[in-house]
Amino acid sequence: MARILVLNGPNLNKLGTREPNIYGTQTLSDIEKLCIDHGTSHGFEIDFRQTNSEGTLVDWIQEACDGYHGVMINAAAYTHTSLAVHDALKLLSIPIIEVHLSNPHEREDFRHHSYVSLVAAKVIAGHGARSYILGLDALAEILA
Ligand code: DQA
Repeated sequence: MARILVLNGPNLNKLGTREPNIYGTQTLSDIEKLCIDHGTSHGFEIDFRQTNSEGTLVDWIQEACDGYHGVMINAAAYTHTSLAVHDALKLLSIPIIEVHLSNPHEREDFRHHSYVSLVAAKVIAGHGARSYILGLDALAEILA
């Protein structure tokens, strides 16, 4: 069974009530359930986490060096700012999928650059919670 680490960055714990016109009404625990259910259909064991802290995100990415087969990450605002997240992702030799609920390229200019895209095998954005499902499908294709 492939072990997949799904990482979520700052403010994603507020999904459901956070700017629902942009991010939808599903909560992060709804999305976790979707990932676990859909992951099972691909034979994935999903380890789903969220943090508001950049250092914790870096620590968790480093954890993926051992015993994980893929990482799916929505680094949220750290996507656009964090060289530390970028450098940590570069430590990995397993596939990385970048996901976003919204499409940052259709939004403010400061969301157009991603430190994650530079190291991601695929970027899936703009499908709401479905971005996570499509991200798992992309990982399944890569790992097949
Ligand atoms: C986001 C997009 C980011 O620009 C933003 O900072 C987020 C969420 C998304 O999933 O659409 O917090 O990553």
